[in-house]
Amino acid sequence: MEGQNKFSKNFLWGAATSAYQVEGGVETDWSLWEKSKKRVAKLKKQGQNPDDYICGEAVDHYRRYKEDIDLAASLGHNAMRIGLEWARIQPQPDTWNVDAINHYRDELRYLKEKGFTTVVTLNHWTLPIWVAEQGGWENDKTIQAFHTYVEVVIKEIGADIDYWLTFNEPTLYAFNGWVRGKWPPAKVLRIFKMYKVLFNLIRAHRNAYKQIRGYFKKVPVSIVMSWIDFEPGHRNNPIELLIVKISRYLAKDWFLHKVIDKMNFLAVNYYFHDRIVWYPPFRVNKKEQVTEMGWEIYPEGLYHVLKYYYEKTFLPVLITENGLADAQDKQRADFIRDHIAAVEKALDMGVKIIGYLHWSLLDNFEWAEGFEKKFGLIEVDRKTMERKVRPSAFVYKEIIESNI
Ligand code: BGC
Repeated sequence: MEGQNKFSKNFLWGAATSAYQVEGGVETDWSLWEKSKKRVAKLKKQGQNPDDYICGEAVDHYRRYKEDIDLAASLGHNAMRIGLEWARIQPQPDTWNVDAINHYRDELRYLKEKGFTTVVTLNHWTLPIWVAEQGGWENDKTIQAFHTYVEVVIKEIGADIDYWLTFNEPTLYAFNGWVRGKWPPAKVLRIFKMYKVLFNLIRAHRNAYKQIRGYFKKVPVSIVMSWIDFEPGHRNNPIELLIVKISRYLAKDWFLHKVIDKMNFLAVNYYFHDRIVWYPPFRVNKKEQVTEMGWEIYPEGLYHVLKYYYEKTFLPVLITENGLADAQDKQRADFIRDHIAAVEKALDMGVKIIGYLHWSLLDNFEWAEGFEKKFGLIEVDRKTMERKVRPSAFVYKEIIESNI
């Protein structure tokens, strides 16, 4: 319950962003793909305006970061997840962008000045074009390239990073890029290549972990995963229980086993719940309430994944993303309340939880879905770039204040 202070004084309360989705003004493999003839033709065929699917200036966070941080501070946040854009820092193999490095140093210092704990993602899906041209994560050379990039980040700005996240949701990234053809490099059913990508990401994560911990002995490092709550439709049905087990293994657990010894905490994004049944189509969600993405709202699932993975690993958990698309802000306040109640329930059951970071601070570029989906606690008018705090952000603020 609110006000009973189940949350420790050090609990991290805040919101998350990623570099490409908010910063704007950078060329990456994504920006090339958005403008590719194939992609534009496909969108036109679907009756969409291709301009709505081009990230461009995003929401100009790169220039307006102080305003955004001030707003987050005014909303009671004490932590923020931001991303670094590799393509901006190293636009060419032998070119390091000093302005960009200084920019990130300034942003991190500004966060620190305002009392924020900093949570930083090194790579959230987008690549420098030269990396993509050498085959991206399909090519072993990218592991070395990433190593060099991480070395520079550590030396130049590492001292201001409190929680390190190497990659964001590698399994979803590989699945959408190499099997579903939904994201660049937009390949379809390239199963072997997808595993190649995943194994290279595992190697890159393991290396980065060693590098970071080599410099900063105690700093916490992890890799972000999106945890799906798989549940059997009928509690005692052995076939459904078996499908649940297999789904968990294929979706995440095998990957987790490969990195678990190189993680100091679990970084959990929670959006999905899947109710498994033994008959086709095998997945029957009740969908009593859905978001504008069509995703079922199921706060209990957050409790389930927190408990399940904590008991499996005994690592403390940081919720690095949890949120919804809700342009009219009709569902967000309840969504936040109910998911935080699920966090409290997990705390009650003894799960160690470091913090809750809502996705997202700002409306942003929702990847293949473009700008139409509004995930922000803060609304952004993309014509004027004016920021307007949504009412639900004040509800979140009250929850934070009643718990600190
Ligand atoms: C990603 C975000 C994305 C969010 C909502 C997460 O899987 O990390 O970049 O915006 O989901 O789709």
